[in-house]
Amino acid sequence: MARKLMVVGNWKMNGCRQYVNELTTALSLHCFNSVDVVVCPPACLIQSFGSIDFLLAGQDVSDCNDGAYTGDISAAMLAEIGCEYVLVGHSERREMHGETNQQVAQKVLRAIEQGIKPIVCVGEPLLMKEAKAEQDYIAEQLAPVLSAVNCEQLEQVVFAYEPIWAIGTGKSASPEQAQCIHKFIRDVISRKSESAAEKVRILYGGSVNFDNAQALFAQDDIDGGLVGGASLKSDSFTTICRYANGEH
Ligand code: 13P
Repeated sequence: MARKLMVVGNWKMNGCRQYVNELTTALSLHCFNSVDVVVCPPACLIQSFGSIDFLLAGQDVSDCNDGAYTGDISAAMLAEIGCEYVLVGHSERREMHGETNQQVAQKVLRAIEQGIKPIVCVGEPLLMKEAKAEQDYIAEQLAPVLSAVNCEQLEQVVFAYEPIWAIGTGKSASPEQAQCIHKFIRDVISRKSESAAEKVRILYGGSVNFDNAQALFAQDDIDGGLVGGASLKSDSFTTICRYANGEH
């Protein structure tokens, strides 16, 4: 089954209103029929986007519904301001904010309950890669998410493989390395639901740029990219989206 490609730009804690306008203008010059383009700005900028023909996502969501959680944002709040997706379990949240695999699974549920599709990030640190233990590490990250959702909910989830050693380093995984892990992730998902495994998109993230995007997207189990640094330059991001759209 052909899955529609997806390119997600994660601005992290970068960007400003001027860049909102610049990127919106750059993307509006193209017609992206064959790719879902998603932008994840910092939460305070989400409402600065006017009329757009791409989708918006949050960078994180609370695992609680409401209450005394200073600084956090609920799934209902993201839904109210027009987010269709939300990143969950980005390695920077896991590493710097101590997010556990269990919390990530709870966040996935909160998002789905509000009709927001979670983009669940997994990926190993360098030490695990060197110990050839990346598959075990990723299987452990996936397990609580896969047991928290039912098969129908699983079809709403997008996964992103982001090896930590490739994030912001300029050292992307090779297309073959990434394909091997993407296939592994799809196999793990298929143990819960073969139909969901066929449908869910698995994005690659970690130093994606316009030089390596085409080769990565050409792999069978790579359904697009989660782009950090290159999403902060409107021409780079637009080029990556054009490649995912099948243009050359
Ligand atoms: P870079 O593309 O800057 O390596 O960042 C990847 C990432 O973390 C996207 O979520």
